[in-house]
Amino acid sequence: MEHLRTCGVLAVSAIAMLSAQQSPAGANRAALAQLRAHLAGHENEPAEAFFTNISILKGRPAGRLPGMMEALTGLIGVDCAYCHVDGNWASDDKPAKRTARAHFAMMARLNQEQFQGRNAVSCWTCHRGSPHPELTGGSSATLSAATPRAAFVAIIVPDAAATAQWYEEKLGFHESKRSRAASGIARSITVESDYAMVEIIEHDRSVALEPIVPDAERRRLVRGISKAGFFVTDIEKIEADLNARGVEFVSHLFSDNDLHLKSFIVRDNAGNYIQFMERTPR
Ligand code: HEC
Ligand code: HEC
Repeated sequence: MEHLRTCGVLAVSAIAMLSAQQSPAGANRAALAQLRAHLAGHENEPAEAFFTNISILKGRPAGRLPGMMEALTGLIGVDCAYCHVDGNWASDDKPAKRTARAHFAMMARLNQEQFQGRNAVSCWTCHRGSPHPELTGGSSATLSAATPRAAFVAIIVPDAAATAQWYEEKLGFHESKRSRAASGIARSITVESDYAMVEIIEHDRSVALEPIVPDAERRRLVRGISKAGFFVTDIEKIEADLNARGVEFVSHLFSDNDLHLKSFIVRDNAGNYIQFMERTPR
């Protein structure tokens, strides 16, 4: 039942995202593209050697920084300018940047002292896409009042860790949560990007479709959710990136003139069809 409800959320958030396209996301993306271009060829240098004012990423490759910054905007629900002074990324003048550093330290301490070093607590645990986590519980926000954020989809796979890794490596998602049913019978890993959240579920009693529907083509005839889709921008670039990463395509870029969409479809490592879509002007 739980999983049936998620399709409703997927549909609603997809619609919500369409109306949220004039968000500062465009500025974030432009800044990230510039940053990645600037970094080109230096990705493996230590972050502190390439950048000016680094403590969190000290000793890590510089190439990790753009993904981390992109993730922060989604986890905290803000744009780059919320933490950064215009034209000076290295500056610590904005209080939010200093708070972010302090909260990284808090998160590391919590995980170390309370969770045996596991990544149990993340920014998402408290922030859930907002700079000001609700301090008291109970006031359940209605869907219409919630900030449209990104599409959500849950999938059941044979090996959650392997599929999570696929989403991280191929689609640039990052892990935001791991959980396990009290009975131990099911586990899940939630991964996120700035446009979507995917809950990857592994259940000891899940059944594979292959013995029943051996023919991959006929899988399309099975009743239930047929595929998941994410609205994105810069779809040509995403397609090229995924191509370069060896992702399996079900369908390369095509236009749907009725829906005013450009779209392509890939298959994840567990065989799920994932469609990417970008609105074209009417
Ligand atoms: C929630 C706050 C936050 C947001 C949002 C954020 N950053 Fe950062 N940024 C930081 C922190 C903290 C550091 C320092 C990282 C460290 O200490 O390793 C940093 C460092 C950087 C640096 C390195 C500067 C230097 O030379 O030292 C760049 C470049 C950067 N961010 C770009 C971006 C871009 C582009 C975005 C938007 C896509 C963004 N940031 C969003 C907090 C943020
Ligand atoms: C244990 C809960 C918790 C965790 C984990 C957490 N935060 Fe926070 N964070 C808060 C609370 C509570 C506030 C303050 C809310 C307020 O004052 O309205 C806050 C405020 C902030 C702010 C300042 C927002 C503003 O404009 O004042 C930033 C930036 C921030 N957190 C970044 C992060 C980052 C980045 C992470 C992950 C590395 C993180 N936080 C992890 C609870 C948390």
